Amino acid sequence: MENNRKTIIAGNWKMNKTTTEAVELIDALIPAVADAQCEVVICTPFTALATAVEKTRGTNIHVGAQNVHFEQSGAFTGEISAEMLVDLGVEYVITGHSERRQYFAETDETVNKRTLAALNAGLKVLVCVGENLEQREQGVTEELVRLQTKIALQGVTKEQLPQVVIAYEPVWAIGTGKTATSDQAQEVCGCIRQLLGELYGEDTAQTVTIQYGGSMNPANAEELLGKPDVDGGLIGGASLKADAFASIVAAASR
Ligand code: PGA
Repeated sequence: MENNRKTIIAGNWKMNKTTTEAVELIDALIPAVADAQCEVVICTPFTALATAVEKTRGTNIHVGAQNVHFEQSGAFTGEISAEMLVDLGVEYVITGHSERRQYFAETDETVNKRTLAALNAGLKVLVCVGENLEQREQGVTEELVRLQTKIALQGVTKEQLPQVVIAYEPVWAIGTGKTATSDQAQEVCGCIRQLLGELYGEDTAQTVTIQYGGSMNPANAEELLGKPDVDGGLIGGASLKADAFASIVAAASR
């Protein structure tokens, strides 16, 4: 599909890979994705970020974190600020991942605060939204995803929007091996773009990268990425193996 949007394939390693293992994976990834015609991002655990930044310098692999706190500094034991990530050389951060929402009491409001803090510090943000199975069965997917997206972007200016990627991740498809059909992915990604048009104008909405995430793998990537409003993928399980991740990158490069 002809458009000027950047295709972005991002790996979300979640709580996997020691720094030693990260080095091995990155060593295997560097040659495997060197010819990519899309943007390649790896979101590693905090502990592997410095090493990942170091190892990927001069390559086409960009590094992201999986979370960021919204305050600049202070008494927030266990948290990491946007400035700390920027100082390390980190370029991207994920906000609002469903696992943060589900297990760590993340709300639409805190997702918004983290997104704003990250953008204000100069990070690019992958904002995750998506419905769970119950919500899909209740037929509220579109309303819910619109609401999540709208709240996540409160206060984000039109000038900041180029630094934002929206990742549509149906919770029922994450880590379950159950992928949304390409039509389901397109339907929701299209509705996110429509909302972006209402909020920022149609021309701006057409420039925003919208990813699909949820059991994307080498076998289904091409079909999902072939949909007009699916501009990339956020990949969990399949990002932990260099060959699988590289196959998805190759599918996105076609
Ligand atoms: P999955 O995870 O590819 O393992 O389903 C995707 C994600 O949670 O970002």
